Amino acid sequence: MPLKLTVIGTGYLGATHAAAMAELGFDVLALDIDPRKIELLAQGRVPMFEPGLEDMLARHVAGIEGSSGRLRFTMSWEEVADFGDVHFVCVNTPQKQGEYACDMSYVESAFGQLAPLLRRPALVVGKSTVPVGSAERLAETLTALAPAGEDVELAWNPEFLREGFAVQDTLHPDRIVVGVRSERAENLLREVYATPVAEGTPFVVADYPTAELVKTAANAFLATKISFINAMAEVSEAAGGDVAVLAEAIGYDDRIGAKFLRAGIGFGGGCLPKDIRAFMARAGELGADQALTFLREVDSTNMRRRTQMVDMAREALGGGFLGRRVAVLGATFKPDSDDVRDSPALNVAGQIHLQGGQVTVYDPKGMENARLHFPTLGYAPSAQDAVRGADVVLHLTEWREFRELDPAALAELARGLVVLDGRNTLDAALWRKAGWTYRAMGRPNA
Ligand SMILES: NC(=O)c1ccc[n+]([C@@H]2O[C@H](COP(=O)([O-])OP(=O)(O)OC[C@H]3O[C@@H](n4cnc5c(N)ncnc54)[C@H](O)[C@@H]3O)[C@@H](O)[C@H]2O)c1
Repeated sequence: MPLKLTVIGTGYLGATHAAAMAELGFDVLALDIDPRKIELLAQGRVPMFEPGLEDMLARHVAGIEGSSGRLRFTMSWEEVADFGDVHFVCVNTPQKQGEYACDMSYVESAFGQLAPLLRRPALVVGKSTVPVGSAERLAETLTALAPAGEDVELAWNPEFLREGFAVQDTLHPDRIVVGVRSERAENLLREVYATPVAEGTPFVVADYPTAELVKTAANAFLATKISFINAMAEVSEAAGGDVAVLAEAIGYDDRIGAKFLRAGIGFGGGCLPKDIRAFMARAGELGADQALTFLREVDSTNMRRRTQMVDMAREALGGGFLGRRVAVLGATFKPDSDDVRDSPALNVAGQIHLQGGQVTVYDPKGMENARLHFPTLGYAPSAQDAVRGADVVLHLTEWREFRELDPAALAELARGLVVLDGRNTLDAALWRKAGWTYRAMGRPNA
């Protein structure tokens, strides 16, 4: 009999994981505490934008014509506890209000709801990103609360999917990391991930703290790489160099690698910023804070980029935003997602708005979420409408749609022909040829 899986928390991670597990052939029951999400998902609709996810979901949601019927949704904890051999916990772990530390209340609540109902052998698998030491504590909670006692075990299996590539990353991950305490737990997870492992995905077996640390260490490294190139952009700017050429040149060294070396307005989203802060907070609790003091610099270099973009825009407008019209292309924290959590683009847009600028934002997929979080900004239904009458154009999220814009046609619409490329991805020569003043961070003005 194939294993029966449950997924608890159906956000970006959980909805993708649930659909992917059904795609791999398992029967899956997924739960969320948000009735709106469950209602949509049960109709085969995805409450967020993630390329390919809706198609994969529709192939499996029970009740949809032609589907495998392997994926169902519920709000009943009893049903979940009775159904699952393996329960994946995928709930959110945001930054605590007013602190760097991770807010574990959603994870604790999920474990608190599930554990007392576990009457048969089960493996509970944490996938959320948590501070190191959490798994050890949650394992005790499980043993204390689950009626099945020792037959209920915990594993930690951090997730590395990237929004925008979530389907591909979940079906064909570049590595699978499991923190386990027994062979039984390891074997159950080998069974779950048999398909990607057969394709050659490395399967790394670790203890709880190492598995938890792998995730935060990976994010800390990626954040450092981005802030490193942004620090180089600051120095290049001061010295009259070109960070794009510098990045290309150092990227040829395969010890360094070319990825994540594009200078710009920095990282954001629901993971990197809060994960590095939680990592610092946790290291402090463990008495190892000195080891991570560099992450403070990484964080502040990153946050400084947003202010620098605002400064650049103000300068382009001759020193002030009052009464000036600013077109903002991009609202999401990255392309191919509708996620606006801690989005650098919206942060910049918000700062300019608060300084008196008339900001009009356009984003291919993030408009609804952007409006929810920043209702006082102006929004336009297309890039062209955002640019119409603008004194300056800011390119802040690297959507392909923006790279494909025709600068000559936009020049007919704008009032001021200045474009500031906060992502270093537009074709500078093309924009300049169409009459625009093109500026990017860390690069000389032509
Ligand atoms: N989004 C990513 O790209 C990504 C990648 C890797 C890891 N992660 C980690 O995965 C976790 C989830 O991230 P996300 O982006 O999917 O968050 P999300 O906010 O999109 O989704 C979390 C879901 O959990 C639900 N939830 C909250 N409390 C619950 C409870 N007690 N019981 C059941 N459901 C509950 C929420 O309603 C929500 O639908 C976080 O720890 C995050 O750091 C996310």
